[in-house]
Amino acid sequence: MPIANRRDFFSAMLQAAGVRDTKPIRAGIVGVGDRGSYHMDLLLGTDLVEIPAICDINPDYLYRAKRWIEQAGKPSPELYDRGKTDFERLCERSDLDLVVCATSWEWHAPVCIAAMKAGKHATTEVPAALTVDECWEMVEVSEKTRKHCVMLEQANYSRDGLLVLEMAQKGVFGQILATTGGYVHDLRLVKFDPEREPWRLQHSVDRNGNLYPTHPIGPMAWWMDINRGDKFEYLVSMSSKAVCLNEYASNYFGDRHPYAGMKMNQGDVNTSLLRTANGKLAVLYFDTNTPHPQTAEMRLDGSKGHYAGNIQQVFIEGRSPKEHVWEPLANYRSEFDPPIWKNLDPGKFKRARGHGGGETTPLMWARLLRALQRGVEPDMNVYDAVVWSVISPLTERSVAQGSRPTDFPDFTRGKWKNTPPIRLEPESA
Ligand SMILES: NC(=O)c1ccc[n+]([C@@H]2O[C@H](COP(=O)([O-])OP(=O)(O)OC[C@H]3O[C@@H](n4cnc5c(N)ncnc54)[C@H](O)[C@@H]3O)[C@@H](O)[C@H]2O)c1
Repeated sequence: MPIANRRDFFSAMLQAAGVRDTKPIRAGIVGVGDRGSYHMDLLLGTDLVEIPAICDINPDYLYRAKRWIEQAGKPSPELYDRGKTDFERLCERSDLDLVVCATSWEWHAPVCIAAMKAGKHATTEVPAALTVDECWEMVEVSEKTRKHCVMLEQANYSRDGLLVLEMAQKGVFGQILATTGGYVHDLRLVKFDPEREPWRLQHSVDRNGNLYPTHPIGPMAWWMDINRGDKFEYLVSMSSKAVCLNEYASNYFGDRHPYAGMKMNQGDVNTSLLRTANGKLAVLYFDTNTPHPQTAEMRLDGSKGHYAGNIQQVFIEGRSPKEHVWEPLANYRSEFDPPIWKNLDPGKFKRARGHGGGETTPLMWARLLRALQRGVEPDMNVYDAVVWSVISPLTERSVAQGSRPTDFPDFTRGKWKNTPPIRLEPESA
């Protein structure tokens, strides 16, 4: 997509999001593979961000990113290519406000921690951390340095998800009792793709639990006031046996290929149940191995009504026209459309290149840049990042212990009790 078009679409959205034309935010990017280059592409679409430094261990991606920055008419960035911990040198630069991490999972927490310790705000792709200890360290460093640590969970900005949030907060569903969501996305080809680093496959070999909970749990957590009036207390998790990756490998590479007989720890289908301090339930599915078109497994159950994301329908007792019959969620748009979606033209977002994200990733960035410019708390904070991410190590522990209940740490140290529900204030505010 031509740079001029990218600039047009993103600046229109930034304007709608209330981002001002002030001093640019200076961002260094660590990891410019698929997703990192998509973030970079979006940020290049605006004059509000400068990218003086980029880091990657793969020279092909690094030089591609450099070329894109130059093609966008921006100064050539300094390159950090001296190995897996060279991001530390990038973080130490004195001319950065923000570090964006889009590496494979194991580097997310180390990069964020290094960035905050060096006085920069940190943002990372999902999940923010892989272990409970990393989660605690991110919280402690963020609190001590007073630097934001934001996980780039764009799923929280979907129009339907925010419409449901608005309806939930206005009491349309009554008391929230349970939510359901899942990451069900056939990634077999991605795991075995010879053109890619096999880091995703390695997690299936080594681990067993819900390894990618944040896309569904992000919006579900906002619906349930997690960290803001409620908190997750414990979970139980169960995994099926593992057959799909070996079957796939033997079909594609042959029975004698090492992948065909490689022991996979990750069960093909994992289901987890989470309970909150105030008695709500969350059900999470995780399945990246079965042949399954990607679906939105989202659901919300309340004392007065339900939302069923797969069919984009709701039923509200006393309000839906027919007893026991769903009605379209869209019927509620005129009354409850999320304020931050007003004035946005989704048609304009479709032209960004790179992986997925659609309109939600640009909106997420617009909100984040706005918060950084104004010096206000971003929509998603470090407590969200770690509570949504810690589900992975906790589910791994539960699965390994025969589905025993596993307690959540209280990363907010009690602050959840008095923190008000999320409010995404209107753009002009
Ligand atoms: N939010 C979403 O919808 C979404 C979509 C895709 C990927 N992701 C996430 O984005 C991240 C990256 O995924 P991807 O598909 O772009 O993978 P990728 O393999 O294409 O990119 C990862 C990049 O990080 C680089 N890298 C790895 N270790 C590094 C290090 N120590 N220092 C510097 N660079 C390093 C790799 O060389 C590669 O270029 C993952 O966390 C993934 O889960 C999120």
